[in-house]
Amino acid sequence: MTLLELEDVTASYGHAQVLHGISFRVGENAAAGILGANGAGKTTTLRAISGMVATGGKITYDGRDITGYRPDKVAALGIAHVPEGRGTLGDLSVRDNLRVGAYLRKDRKGVAADLDLCLDLFPNLRERIGSNASALSGGEQQMLAIARAIMAKPRLILLDEASLGLAPSTAQRVYQAIRRLRSEQGVAMVVVEQNAMLAFSVVDHAIVLETGKTSLSGSRDELMGLDEVRRAYLGG
Ligand SMILES: Nc1ncnc2c1ncn2[C@@H]1O[C@H](COP(=O)(O)OP(=O)(O)OP(=O)(O)O)[C@@H](O)[C@H]1O
Ligand SMILES: [Mg+2]
Repeated sequence: MTLLELEDVTASYGHAQVLHGISFRVGENAAAGILGANGAGKTTTLRAISGMVATGGKITYDGRDITGYRPDKVAALGIAHVPEGRGTLGDLSVRDNLRVGAYLRKDRKGVAADLDLCLDLFPNLRERIGSNASALSGGEQQMLAIARAIMAKPRLILLDEASLGLAPSTAQRVYQAIRRLRSEQGVAMVVVEQNAMLAFSVVDHAIVLETGKTSLSGSRDELMGLDEVRRAYLGG
């Protein structure tokens, strides 16, 4: 079953069109990757899904045409966006950031269970539960941003460069949690990454963007076998 489908999606900032017809789909419990150089349009593609940029073409989620939906409406349908640069609330504690993530939910038992899940996925956050988010390390802030998204109980998570600026071992830990989230909780994902090895550790298929167009698409194994992908993204 397809959960999310983009068909010929375009996006513009003012008069500047930056996406020129992007198409891909993500099945339920599946994970799709978006690779590409700086400025290729990866973040804009996630913004188009979340309703944060003027968009054309068609975006279908769970059988419903959501093209042009506002961000709050997209979120209410079960799509959580973890933005580039993380966007945690610095003046609030870790605990309160996680509560904010769950603010639309009324199932208190479910919220408590998901809090346990987050602290199990990210043990660092358990130790820092009372600390202000602004006092966390970069890696801990990334963990908190993902955990906050989990607290909304999404069916689909949009992850924008979750490894950016992290030490390799921290990035590995973050991606281990992302893989568990998919395999144990069945959350579907769109994973934007410049680190293709990390992206390929979780996605089944991916597209490569070049100046707002899809230059390549295929299964993880097909893409990892291509010389041009190996040269550009896998260090040889
Ligand atoms: N708010 C904005 N207003 C105008 N142009 C923008 C805005 N945000 C991005 N752009 C432009 O849109 C294009 C795509 O940017 P986008 O942020 O989607 O790229 P990206 O693939 O995520 O890059 P990076 O890897 O650097 O994060 C770029 O040319 C960028 O300059
Ligand atoms: Mg980006």
